[in-house]
Parts: sequence; structure tokens; C-alpha cells
Amino acid sequence: MTDINALKTELTSEIEGAGDLQTLDEVRVAVLGKKGRITALMKTLGSMDPEERKTTGAALNALKDEIADLIKSQERALKKQDMDQRLSTEGEDITLSARQAPHGKIHPISQTMEEMVGIFGSMGFTVAEGPDIEDDFHNFTALNFSPGHPAREMQDTFFLPEDDGEEGEYAKKLLRTHTSSVQIRHMESGEPPYKIVCFGRTYRSDYDMTHTPMFHQMEGLFIDKDVNMGHLKGCLTDFVRAYFKLDDLPVRFRPSFFPFVEPGAEVDIGYTKKPDGGIKLGKAPDGQEQQWMEVLGAGMVHPNVLKNCGVDPDEYQGFAFGMGIERLTMLKYGIPDLRTFFECDTRWLEHYGFDPLDRPNTTTR
Ligand code: PHE
Repeated sequence: MTDINALKTELTSEIEGAGDLQTLDEVRVAVLGKKGRITALMKTLGSMDPEERKTTGAALNALKDEIADLIKSQERALKKQDMDQRLSTEGEDITLSARQAPHGKIHPISQTMEEMVGIFGSMGFTVAEGPDIEDDFHNFTALNFSPGHPAREMQDTFFLPEDDGEEGEYAKKLLRTHTSSVQIRHMESGEPPYKIVCFGRTYRSDYDMTHTPMFHQMEGLFIDKDVNMGHLKGCLTDFVRAYFKLDDLPVRFRPSFFPFVEPGAEVDIGYTKKPDGGIKLGKAPDGQEQQWMEVLGAGMVHPNVLKNCGVDPDEYQGFAFGMGIERLTMLKYGIPDLRTFFECDTRWLEHYGFDPLDRPNTTTR
């Protein structure tokens, strides 16, 4: 018995002294393996007399179980120690820079519209909307284009099949040729004062370097009791200067005709020609000739248009303006060919587009 107790003390210290799993396994084999020390002792039981065998056998079995348990728990302790060691030394290197996820670009048209919303928003305009498929009334008649008026020919209209469900001018459907129809719908839908801008697709049958059958316009309308031509000039001068970020951009108002305004004007901005054939917006330096280019149409809303929308022209008046969004985008960002806007070439967008995470500062100044 004392032998067994001594053996137990010895084995226990061997097991607890095993500093790693491999040493522990060697101890296990040396004790419990086929040729292990306890196994060898078990083998001696056969030569003992029955009484001795009984007590020694029970003691050896108990020792064997205890030692096996001890090895198990030492094994667990070593594994945990091993894991703790790895966790403290092996962690992921989170300082490694992340792989860049590809992200899309904002189309220059969207960018420009957002800039325009910012500028007109700061002047108190809100955004209105209207349908792309219009009827003859909203696109022409209400805007003071009389039937057969040559002005209707100014715009190469895409007509759609007549709508059986409606009558007269409302049955005649077309793709809107300008966003001026939104002025009409807006005035029909509520009471003055009106102060809106609207953005949208417009359609004319035309295709070359500066014309596409679909393009975008922006329209503005400001009607109140005392809105005058001075307000029109101030508003549009401020707009083009804020949009092009040129405080002294020369602006010129030139008389022009649109059936829905009286008087009507075209707005020009000043530029100079560069020796390389390009252009530079701004005031011409001394000795150089000031050049002008048209950027938008405007005017005081014609009394007939107000009447057509149920607004009393003796009480209310105001101005409207309209412009091509692509044209202003091309000028500001130096994009030479209008057609490329709609070719859906991702390389073009990669080059001319805007980073979605880098939105424009949309305030005026
Ligand atoms: N609707 C005109 C066009 O498309 C532009 C315009 C709008 C002119 C409002 C005057 C006033 O050419």
C-alpha cells in the first residue's frame, strides 16, 4: 500500500510537472500505456494470492482512475494555456489597409441639378414636378401658343397616339418639349403666390453634337403681387454667377420671343476666346473683345398664361425662366459632346462623374 501511495505521489508530480502536451503524453504512455508502470503492476496481480490480489487490485484500479483523471485535467489546463498563449500573440492585424470596394459615380446631370436646387433653394424656391407625357393644352395652348401658331413649329415635337378617354387638346398626347408645362400644372393646382423650380426630361426630334432627342431642362416660376423685371434680372444674374462661381461674370439680357412671356429675353454670359480655340468665361481683359453666349430664356409671364390658369393678371404678375441643364453642365465642366451624356459608357462616367462621398457645397456663396 505504501508503495502505491508513494507511486501516486511520484506520478502526480510528474503529471503536474509536464509543461506541454507532448511531455504529458509521454508521461501517460509511461504510466498507462501497454508497457506503462501501472499496467506492469496490474500484470503482477495474477501471481498474488486471492486476498492480496483483492486489496491490491482495488487499490491499483483506483490509482489508475485517479491518474487518468489527473492526466485529463492537466491536458485541459495545458490546452487552455496553449490557447491563451496563441490569443495573446497571434491576433489579426487590423492595421492592414482594407481593399477598396468599387463605388459608382454621380452623373454630371445629377450633380448640376443638385447644385441648382442648392442655389434656387437658398433664394426661397421649392421644387415642383410634372409628367413627361403631356397633352397639347399643357405643353402649348395654355402657354399661349395659338392653334397653327408658327411658334409650335419651333419645337420638333414627338406626338403620341390620341387618347380616346379624353377630349380636344387633352386627348392629343405628346412628349413635353419643355418644362414650361410644369408652370401650368403648378398654377392650376393651387393659389398664388408661386415660387418654384422644376427639373425634368424634355424631348425634341433632333440629333447632332449639341442636340439629343431627350435632354433636361430646368424651369423657374415666380408669381406674386409685385414681382417685376428687376427681380428677374437680379435673380438670374445671381444664379449664373453662383453656378459658375464667378462673382463678376458679365450677364446680358437680350430681347427675345417666347409666346408665354412678354417681354421675353434671352440671357447671355460673357466669355473670351483662348488662343488654343477654347473659351474662358468672364469679363474680357482690356484690349480683348467680349464674347457672349446664350444660356437661358426668360421673361415676364404673359397675362394670357395667367388667365389660362385662373390667375388674375390685374392682381398678379411675375417671371419665368428655362434652361438646358446639359448645356450648363458642359460649359462648367468642359464636356465637349452632348451625345456622350447618354451613351452609358462607364469609362466616361468614371472620368466626368462625381464622387458620391464628395457632394457639392450647394449653398450660393
Ligand atoms: N421653354 C423655353 C424653351 O424651352 C424656355 C423658357 C422658359 C423661356 C421660361 C422663357 C421662360 O425654349
